[in-house]
This record gives sequence, C-alpha cells and structure tokens, in this order.
Amino acid sequence: MTARSRLEQSPHEQAQDHLRAPGARLPADVCIRHLIRADLPLLEWEGEYTHFRRVFFRAYQNARQGRAVLWVAVAPPRQMLGQVFVLLRGARQELADGATRAYLYAIRVRPAYRNLGLGSRLIETAEQDLRKRGFRIATLNVARDNCAALRLYTRLGYQIVAEDPGRWWYYDHQGRRREVVEPAWRMEKELLG
Ligand SMILES: CC(C)(COP(=O)(O)OP(=O)(O)OC[C@H]1O[C@@H](n2cnc3c(N)ncnc32)[C@H](O)[C@@H]1OP(=O)(O)O)[C@@H](O)C(=O)NCCC(=O)NCCS
Repeated sequence: MTARSRLEQSPHEQAQDHLRAPGARLPADVCIRHLIRADLPLLEWEGEYTHFRRVFFRAYQNARQGRAVLWVAVAPPRQMLGQVFVLLRGARQELADGATRAYLYAIRVRPAYRNLGLGSRLIETAEQDLRKRGFRIATLNVARDNCAALRLYTRLGYQIVAEDPGRWWYYDHQGRRREVVEPAWRMEKELLG
C-alpha cells in the first residue's frame, strides 16, 4: 500500500510540491498528537479524501486495537494540517511485523503548509515513538514518480531496498471496490544506533 497516490494528486497539488508561498509559515500553535475519533471527518479535507473514509476508519480501529499509531498535525480550533499513519503489525511481515519493523503510510501535508518542515516533524515524531516501542526499522513505500517525497525520505535517512508493484485495493465511502496500481520503491531506515 503506497502512502499517498501520486496519481490521485491534482495537477495543482503536484505543482505545489516544490513551492512555498512567500512568507508562508506554520501556525505557532501547531501540535502533533494522536488522532482521536472526532478528527476522522477532518482527514477528508474538503472532500478530496472522502473516498478514503473507510480506510481511515479501519486505521482508527487498528489504532484502538494496538496495531497502529496515527499521528496528526493540528492547529486550534480544528484545523488538520497533516498526518502520518504507522502500522505496527500487518499482513505483510516485511513491512510491519509487530516487533521489529513498522510501516509508515498516508503521509500527507496540506499544500499550503508544505516545505515548512512539517512532513519531517511528523515522520520524526513517528520514528521517535517507534524507538520507544523497541522497533528497529521503519519502512515505507513511495510511488516511483513522487520525486519530492523520495527526496525527503532520502534526506531523512531512508534507503531504497526493493521494488514494490504497489497493487492494493480498498472500499470507498459508497462501498465500491477501488483498485490501485502504483509501482513504488520500498524504503527502510534503521532506527537504532
Ligand atoms: C511529501 C510531503 C508529505 C512532504 O511534506 P512537507 O511538509 O512539505 O515536508 P518538509 O517541509 O519537511 O520537507 C519538504 C522540503 O522542504 C524543505 N524545508 C523544510 N523546512 C524548510 C524551511 N523552513 N525552509 C525551507 N525549506 C524547508 C525540506 O528540506 C524538504 O526539502 P527536500 O525534500 O529537498 O529535502 C508533502 O509534500 C505532501 O503531502 N505531498 C503530497 C502527498 C505525498 O506525496 N505524500 C507522500 C507519499 S509517499
């Protein structure tokens, strides 16, 4: 499963990947914390991610059952700026085995707040938490054409370890099965040492 489909980004969103509005800055009171149930509708932004409603709810259930940790960056009163989800234990042992390796996905920052360090802060928060839990390796998948994300992960110490066909599916908010095919790189980072 790839964190965020490049194919699902609008041309406008892609064009903003490298841009930062002059004077843009993060709200002073931005806070990174665990997602709570009341945050779920905010993950849909203004409808852009409504099709992932069930995916988000499943992630929330996984977190409640100790299989995942969901981090969000919020600014009061209820502004959702970004997120990173961490799967601790999943079906694919090479990604998340519940003991040594965990899988970062759904990494996303609102376009207006990109290139301000928030994505890095979210990932570093997730990594620090994994260290405390005794995990040794963080894994993620990145679409092969997502140059901005690949550069960011490389700067943060992730290395490409394999190709991934990037095939997965989900049920959207209307119960329709949607297939995703997004060839990706699998990346890893050693967390200890
Ligand atoms: C990928 C993504 C999460 C990165 O989030 P972000 O908040 O822009 O990340 P950061 O600001 O920490 O880093 C982005 C760049 O800004 C730079 N930057 C960070 N703070 C900065 C600052 N204060 N001044 C100038 N540049 C800064 C970083 O060095 C980084 O550059 P690099 O990639 O060349 O190393 C974001 O672009 C996004 O949501 N993209 C769409 C979804 C997506 O593709 N997700 C990843 C799927 S795998």
